[in-house]
Amino acid sequence: MPSARSALPAWQKLAEHHRAQSRLHLRELFARDPRRFGKFSLALDGMLLDYSKQRVTEETMRLLADLARACELEAWRARMLAGERINQTEDRAVLHVALRAGAAVRVEGRDVTRDVAAVLADMRRFARGVRAGRTRGASGRAFTDVVNLGIGGSDLGPRLACDALKHCSRSGPRAHFVSNVDGAAITDTLERLTPATTLVVISSKTFSTQETLANARTARAWLQRKLKDKAARHLCAVTAEPERARAFGVPADRIFRTWDWVGGRYSLCSAVGLPVALAIGMEHFDGLRAGARAMDEHFARAPLEKNLPVVMGLLEVWNVNFLGCGARAVLPYDERLRWLPAYLQQLEMESCGKSVTREGERAGYATAPVTWGSAGTDGQHAYFQWLHQGAAVVPADFIACCQPHHRLRGHHQALLANFFAQTEALASGMNPEEAAAGMRAQRLPEATARALLPHRVFDGNRPTSSILLDALTPRALGALIALYEHKVFVQSVIWNVNAFDQWGVELGKSLAGRILPELVSHAPVAGHDSSTNGLINHYKARRQRRKA
Ligand code: F6P
Repeated sequence: MPSARSALPAWQKLAEHHRAQSRLHLRELFARDPRRFGKFSLALDGMLLDYSKQRVTEETMRLLADLARACELEAWRARMLAGERINQTEDRAVLHVALRAGAAVRVEGRDVTRDVAAVLADMRRFARGVRAGRTRGASGRAFTDVVNLGIGGSDLGPRLACDALKHCSRSGPRAHFVSNVDGAAITDTLERLTPATTLVVISSKTFSTQETLANARTARAWLQRKLKDKAARHLCAVTAEPERARAFGVPADRIFRTWDWVGGRYSLCSAVGLPVALAIGMEHFDGLRAGARAMDEHFARAPLEKNLPVVMGLLEVWNVNFLGCGARAVLPYDERLRWLPAYLQQLEMESCGKSVTREGERAGYATAPVTWGSAGTDGQHAYFQWLHQGAAVVPADFIACCQPHHRLRGHHQALLANFFAQTEALASGMNPEEAAAGMRAQRLPEATARALLPHRVFDGNRPTSSILLDALTPRALGALIALYEHKVFVQSVIWNVNAFDQWGVELGKSLAGRILPELVSHAPVAGHDSSTNGLINHYKARRQRRKA
């Protein structure tokens, strides 16, 4: 098989198919086939995916499934689920599914689900003790606040879940999240808290990430100022490097393990979810894992054409590589899912933001689009103008829940009215005749209407997928997260990139490590390009002037 998948006949057929039907408009597709919604939607366990507003026909979906088969998607899926070391650049298995599996998963003969169960049992005991007020701080007071210190995959998953599932628990400590090395983040958080009632979770798979360790040292010093040598009782760690956590001063029985076969951005169902167990409750964390497991089972077994993550991954390939879309918006019409765009940004862009194939050759085609977005309806009053009439076509995922998790039914109906309206408007647009008729109805003078016409036309034909969840339960959130995890995997197989490494973050990290001591010294720097030298020296001069 060619390393660059664009050389496959199945890819070429899709390119021809696109040329032949590129003028088709979604309006026309809906007009031609009254059963389009039924044909292009899938349901699973309280989740509906409607992709009938994507620019596809049955032929497109058939050709995309052919491409998936030509790229051996089923074999790659089996290799991942069997614990093969498919993360070849780091020589690691990829087994986030083992974190929520219902049956044994072996890595070189060892059933790793036993290790997972042991850590979950420790988390359960600890979380129950903290929530019930049995496990207390050094001065005998119950923990009222939990601060998670972590970044990237050690932050975004638990941050998303704690926010999304807030309504599931009215008891238990409040969760706070500090990720940025900017001192403002930890200062703002700690100044509102009391050391005697605060539990600090240091979450870092490697236990070597600069930002997390800087925040951990600051939090430890803050605890020590009040609690002296008992501060360690307020620390716990989540890591694949328990020795490093011990050396930092975390008690051995407060270290919750994760493993090298769990990628950071795929780790929410591991001990990285400890803040969820503490703040929302272990039973809800178990619910989240059960939802993810249901999606894993669907991904493993459903035929490609009926498989939600496969369909979503193939649609992304269609939009990126054939329609030429360089971005995708994630638009949760649910305030509680406001962290989902940021979570998916890391999941999708760190996984598939690669331009070299598994064999180390230049791919030569586009891979991960820009993933971005925010909770609706706010975006409607900011960037939706650009989504509707901008020069670029940007597909979007709209996500909402049928049942609200609050009592304000009128608000929920208004929210969903906007959701449905936006996807309809993006698909159908408004043609010149409709725009002119609208202005006639407003009784605008003819000359004004003529001048305004080009501004009031909407091209439409802008693809969207809609995901409706019955309700924002832990199970639904787990399924949603696993849906996107597997979608990303599907794309990585088609693009033939390794979705599980992230070498692209290393250069900046090592340069920051070199620059940090240069900022401490007084001597001007000269070893970089003139821009970097200039910026560093400007900063140093300004800082010295302030001191003087
Ligand atoms: O940004 C790179 C990265 O390695 C992410 O992949 C990861 O989620 C994050 O840093 C945090 O890493 P760690 O959990 O090891 O502190």
